Parts: sequence; structure tokens; C-alpha cells
Amino acid sequence: MSDRGFVVTPWEVKGEVDYDKLMEEFGVQPIDDKLEEKLKRYTCGQLHPQIGRKVFFSHRDLDWILDRYEDGEKFFLYTGRGPSGHTHIGHIIPWIFTRDLQRYFDAEVYFQLTDDEKFLVKPDLSLEDTIGYAYDNALDVIACGFEKGKTWLFLDTEYMKTLYGIAVRIAKHITFSTVKAIFGFTSSTNIGMVFFPAIQAAPCFLPSILKGRNIPCLIPAAIDQDPYWRGVARAVAPRLGFYKPAQIHCKFLPGLGRGGKMSASQPETAIFTTDRLEVAEAKIMNAYTGGQPTVKEQRAKGGNPDICPIYQYYLFLFEEDDGRLKERYLDCRSGSLLCGDCKETLAKRVSSFLKEHQKRRIKAKNVLEDFILRD
Ligand code: TYM
Repeated sequence: MSDRGFVVTPWEVKGEVDYDKLMEEFGVQPIDDKLEEKLKRYTCGQLHPQIGRKVFFSHRDLDWILDRYEDGEKFFLYTGRGPSGHTHIGHIIPWIFTRDLQRYFDAEVYFQLTDDEKFLVKPDLSLEDTIGYAYDNALDVIACGFEKGKTWLFLDTEYMKTLYGIAVRIAKHITFSTVKAIFGFTSSTNIGMVFFPAIQAAPCFLPSILKGRNIPCLIPAAIDQDPYWRGVARAVAPRLGFYKPAQIHCKFLPGLGRGGKMSASQPETAIFTTDRLEVAEAKIMNAYTGGQPTVKEQRAKGGNPDICPIYQYYLFLFEEDDGRLKERYLDCRSGSLLCGDCKETLAKRVSSFLKEHQKRRIKAKNVLEDFILRD
């Protein structure tokens, strides 16, 4: 753990993340009132709940990309997944937001599946494993409701003929000392990883190259992916004659244990889209909460929703109504809401979300090929 008490890298998130500190360190801006007003013009006059609740909380050049849009220049969306296992609900947070942006702005979505990255960083995974997970995770992406004909998924190892030309042009401008400083690489990092940042930066310019004109790019993702944009894509864009990609960053959905983001490496505190419904419900009923040890104390002192993962689930995804969310917060604080009841309601909502998602995952198999970009 660093001396600031938390770690956020593309491969590791540990400790209690101080998002204000992170914004300062990464040099990103908060989404302020003025920008919220500007966004509202495109989001049916209402703030998207994930913006209103500060789940998506910071950005780079979002104001710029909206100005260009206003002037009639459309942008594309770029996001992705490192297929190291099954998809969990945390991963879906930026995908649902991206899907909504696609609808608001009628934007194309380019979705990178970094089977190469996860093969290179995970000692226990073979390339066959990560390719297998990429196709499995692709079903989750499609199940989120992206638009066919406007959404393009690609696996790095299978789309490399197109990506490689872009990646080498990027790589030529990035030194080893730059990637060491940004990503913490050392002399024992394998050389695949040293080159990989150029591959994750490449899709920022892919549509511009495919269509032969400069097209603005907006990347929705959690803030852990920022080093790729800050240190690589944005640094080289002007030298290659492209716009710098803009970003909109979200916070991390926590795991169901005490502290820390939802992570596939702690399966008992993560809800996977493929979990059986009763398994997901049991994980929620066993979760850590911000409540008191006994019902009597809870009634007398109230709980603390600010440190409670269960409350965060409502806030991130499972309570659409702002009024009811506030009520839940106040009822927890006052002690009138007990953790058992709060968990039970969440378990039912997550279960019905999973049930529908799993049905859509099955249907997605029939249209998978329509979404995959191939060389
Ligand atoms: P990966 O597979 O680690 O994560 C996929 C997406 O989910 C976000 N994320 C989360 N969001 C909210 N709460 C969480 N607990 C949580 N955990 C992960 C990540 O920020 C990411 O947006 N290298 C990337 C794959 C990638 C990519 C991209 C991601 C390639 N190109 C462009 C975003 C944008 C990766 O391993 O993501």
C-alpha cells in the first residue's frame, strides 16, 4: 500500500480510495454544476442518475466534446474489458452508462476485449482461457442492450492485423522510462506488458483510421484505466494528428466485504452475472454492512450508510428513484431500517436483475457474430 493509504492502478485497487486526492494526482476535473447543466440538454432534461449521484464524477475534455457535438461533430464511445474471468456487477456499471450515452448521442461504440493483456498479467491464465472469457464476457456486453450495427467488439489477438499498425505508431513515441513512471513497470515486467499500453491506446484512433477522418472519442470507464489515456493516448494524439480522447470516470462499486472494490479475486464478495440466483442472494445476505451489532443498538443509534456496501448497491444501480434512495439513507441513519430488511430487498432486486440479464445472455449467443469486428 502506498503512503497515501490506497492504491489505484489498472491492475490493482486496494484500500479506501480518496477520489478527491486521485483527481488531483491524475489531473482530471470534477463534473461541476455547469457541466451537469450542459449534459442535461442531451439527457432528456434530467441528469443521468449515475451523474446526479456522482458515480460518474470526473472527466477530461467532456465540455470540449459536447461543444463539438453541438457544432454537429459526432463522437464515438470507446470502452472495454480485460477478460480474466466471469463478468461481475462492478464491470457492468460503466457498460450500462455507455449504453445510455449511445442512446442519448446516437453514438457508435467500440469495445476492446484485451485477451492479450490478461494473458500477460495473470500467471495462471493461458491464452485459450482469456480468449474463452472474452467470448463469454462479450455476451454480457450484448446483454446490456447495446445497439446492433453501431456496436463493435473486438478481441486484441483476433483483430491485431488492424490494431497493430496503430499501436506501433503510438509505441514509437512512448519511451520505456515513461511507461515505467506511469504504470510502475520494472526490469522484471515481461516485454508484452511493456508494449501493451500502445494496444489499449490504439482504439482511441481506430474509427478515425477506418473512416479516414478525425473523429472525437469519449471513454467511459472507472478511474483505474486513466493511466492509459493520461500517459499514452493523450500524449501521442497531437503528434499523430488525432484529437486527444476525452474521458468520463466512475468510482468503484465496492465488494460485499469490508472495504475495497468488487473484485473477481474475492468471489465470495463479488456478484457474477453467471451466479445462480440463490448464490447471489446468499452473498448479499452474508454481506458486511454499516449497521450495529444488535437490533436494539441499531434502533437506538442507527447505522452508517456511508460505509455500507449494501447502500452503495442501491446508489450505483438498484434504486432508480432519488427520493426513495434518500429515504433509505435517512431510515438507516435513524435506526428505523434494519440491515436484514435492507439486504433482503436488495437480494430480491439483484436476483430479478440477474434473471433478466441471464435470459438476454442466452439470446446474445444468436447475434454474437453481428457484434464482432474481424480483420
Ligand atoms: P477490467 O476488465 O478490469 O474492467 C472492465 C471495466 O470495468 C471497470 N471496473 C469497475 N467499475 C466499477 N466498479 C468496479 N468495481 C469495477 N471494476 C472494474 C473498469 O474500469 C473497466 O471500465 N484494461 C481494461 C480493458 C479495456 C478498457 C478499455 C477498459 C481495454 N480498453 C477502454 C475501459 C476503457 C480492463 O482490464 O478492464
